[in-house]
Amino acid sequence: MTRKLYVKSYGCQMNVYDSHRMADVLAPEGYAETAAPDDADLIILNTCHIREKAAEKVYSELGRVRQLKDGAAREGRRVTVAVAGCVAQAEGEEIIRRAPVVDLVVGPQSYHKLPDLLARKDREEAGIVETEFPVEDKFDFLPAPGKAVTRARGVTAFVTVQEGCDKFCTFCVVPYTRGAEVSRPVEKILDEVRNLAEAGVREVTLIGQNVNAYHGEGFGRTWTLGQLLRRVAETPGIARLRYTTSHPRDVDDDLIAAHRDLRQLSPQLHLPVQSGSDRILGAMNRRHTRADYLRTVERLRAARPDLALTSDFIVGFPAETEADFADTLRIVDEVGYAGAFSFKYSPRPGTPGANMSEQIAEDMKAERLARLQAAINRNAAAFNAGCRGLTFDVLLEKPGRLPGQLTGRSPYLQPVQVMAPSQLTGMMVPVTITDIGTNSLFGVLAESPRIGPEFTKPLEALGA
Ligand code: 5AD
Ligand code: SF4
Repeated sequence: MTRKLYVKSYGCQMNVYDSHRMADVLAPEGYAETAAPDDADLIILNTCHIREKAAEKVYSELGRVRQLKDGAAREGRRVTVAVAGCVAQAEGEEIIRRAPVVDLVVGPQSYHKLPDLLARKDREEAGIVETEFPVEDKFDFLPAPGKAVTRARGVTAFVTVQEGCDKFCTFCVVPYTRGAEVSRPVEKILDEVRNLAEAGVREVTLIGQNVNAYHGEGFGRTWTLGQLLRRVAETPGIARLRYTTSHPRDVDDDLIAAHRDLRQLSPQLHLPVQSGSDRILGAMNRRHTRADYLRTVERLRAARPDLALTSDFIVGFPAETEADFADTLRIVDEVGYAGAFSFKYSPRPGTPGANMSEQIAEDMKAERLARLQAAINRNAAAFNAGCRGLTFDVLLEKPGRLPGQLTGRSPYLQPVQVMAPSQLTGMMVPVTITDIGTNSLFGVLAESPRIGPEFTKPLEALGA
């Protein structure tokens, strides 16, 4: 019997990845994904706890889910509701107490158990809470061999290589919700990448909360992220490689050398700095100074001169003065970020920051955020404007906005719209950027395509 599964993902890429894996784990059980919650038999909310009143958002979404569930019950249809992700981890059974619509609460370490949990649920053993699981099994929620392979969804895919974090930045809830840092063994990562490449994936993003703390075992030794990237880059068919999210402290010589040597490694790096003030960086327990960060950026750019950097910023961390904030504004211009996410500090219960004195007033945070975003936007616009006239390798992903157009991504992750025949979907093609829009770049297929690796077909061969 086919049942329909609707997964709503909040928050980071790790959650998007986990949502896909949950769907993969449930596919052999007869669950097919649906894009609409209305006709789903199983609704999973994959929640995020990183900022704001994330838990409150989940409860209000659960209010809507309850109406769906009640409506279905009137038609004699049973809908199962599960809450997964970091709110599940943080709140546990409390969720079922507050929202009885929820049948199941499952923490990020237990997704491989979903089929069992649902089967038990079917036997009416309600209210099961599964949040603890031995660390060595953390990544083993992929379907057993022979049952199903990792499903590719399009030409780009995420692959988890590391989970959890031991850094304990004083604002961050991740070390509490995702637990201690664990690296996935090299062989498992290589297998997954190979499977994906065989299924048509051309771009792989290695993900982890602190991805460059990677220290996985493989072939009898411990590997760094730089070494892992070299090995993954050898996978036939993988045209582009990325990794996210990195901590500045863990950028080592191997990683810098990988940026120098690997043609596949994207020249875009997300390297969150959070603040430009040493005083605030200290209070955040970031374990690096402004000068350390700038030195790392300089070394990376020496290795890869076309490297573009993006970042995360937090404004209004406790005791942040106008002078501290001015240091943050300055670092935006000094690095010349191609883009950045910026957030108002949000005290997370249980983290040291939440108990610090001198919390900053909300209106002050909002005012600083607006100024920071103006600086970021100015830099991003300058970066985009500099792309006009350049020829990039663009990985064409899907139909574009207009007929005859395809949408792809530049090496810097910018969406690019190109007039191109549909048989180029899934390929990396050279595109010359002709115009810069607000949300995307516009380009034309370059006249004399570079003849690259086997995934970049010369256009003539396709009759284009
Ligand atoms: N308040 C505001 N922003 C936060 N982030 C993490 N925790 C908090 C918090 N308590 C931001 C950081 C991090 C990104 C994923 O979310 O900038 O890099
Ligand atoms: Fe959170 Fe800091 Fe770990 Fe990133 S490095 S996940 S911000 S504790």
